[in-house]
Amino acid sequence: MKKIIIANWKANLLPKDSLSLAKKYANLKKGAYSVIVCPDFSVISSLSSLLSKSSVTLGAQDCSAFLPGSHTGEVCASSLKYFGVEFVIIGHSERRANGETDTDISKKINNTLDAKMTPVICVGESAEEFRLKKTKTVIKKQLISVLRGLTSKQLAKNIIIAYEPVWAVGTDIFLSPEETIKICKFIKEIATGIGSLKLAVLYGGSVSSANSFHYLNNEAVAGLLVGRASLDYKNFCEILKN
Ligand code: PGA
Repeated sequence: MKKIIIANWKANLLPKDSLSLAKKYANLKKGAYSVIVCPDFSVISSLSSLLSKSSVTLGAQDCSAFLPGSHTGEVCASSLKYFGVEFVIIGHSERRANGETDTDISKKINNTLDAKMTPVICVGESAEEFRLKKTKTVIKKQLISVLRGLTSKQLAKNIIIAYEPVWAVGTDIFLSPEETIKICKFIKEIATGIGSLKLAVLYGGSVSSANSFHYLNNEAVAGLLVGRASLDYKNFCEILKN
């Protein structure tokens, strides 16, 4: 299976800037990696048409914990699916920092799987937890609480876990590839133990063209979740060259 590179544009761009960046992405030729781009909700519809004939797959940065109904301001998984979204980032540390709980995350995973999309579930420890060497304990707890509620049918579907140490996101500090490989193997072991059958574990957190090769070089790391380095097309292409 090809390794996966997910571009998370977060809320960095105005719609016009997302569209011009997406036009560049649309020129990417099929290569060694599967490329997924996650713009904000405001341009999901436009990017859906723009990328439809390209090698790039559309993803989203979140979805609602609710099913369609009277939930003002929410964007349901089924609406994302309608626009051709195939992957949904869930439980990003920037959302957890704004109060998202494991219960919300479980519901979002459920809705994403039921709408026939692949969840990209983010897990990771804080700087303090890392300092206290609690990484494995924290990740195990996060994985158990968000995967435990899934049915065996849901666990048989493609599930992506993105390991993102919170202290490495948006900081220019990253976890060494050696340590990352150990944690990715640990995640695979735990999630497989819970019953996940088609699991891919990615790394994210200050990935750049200077360090991406070292992560992608190992089979335990199925790909990368890239934030800032995905906002500059040239920079992003450098990662894809690795
Ligand atoms: P970063 O963000 O690459 O800018 O650190 C990664 C992420 O938040 O997914």
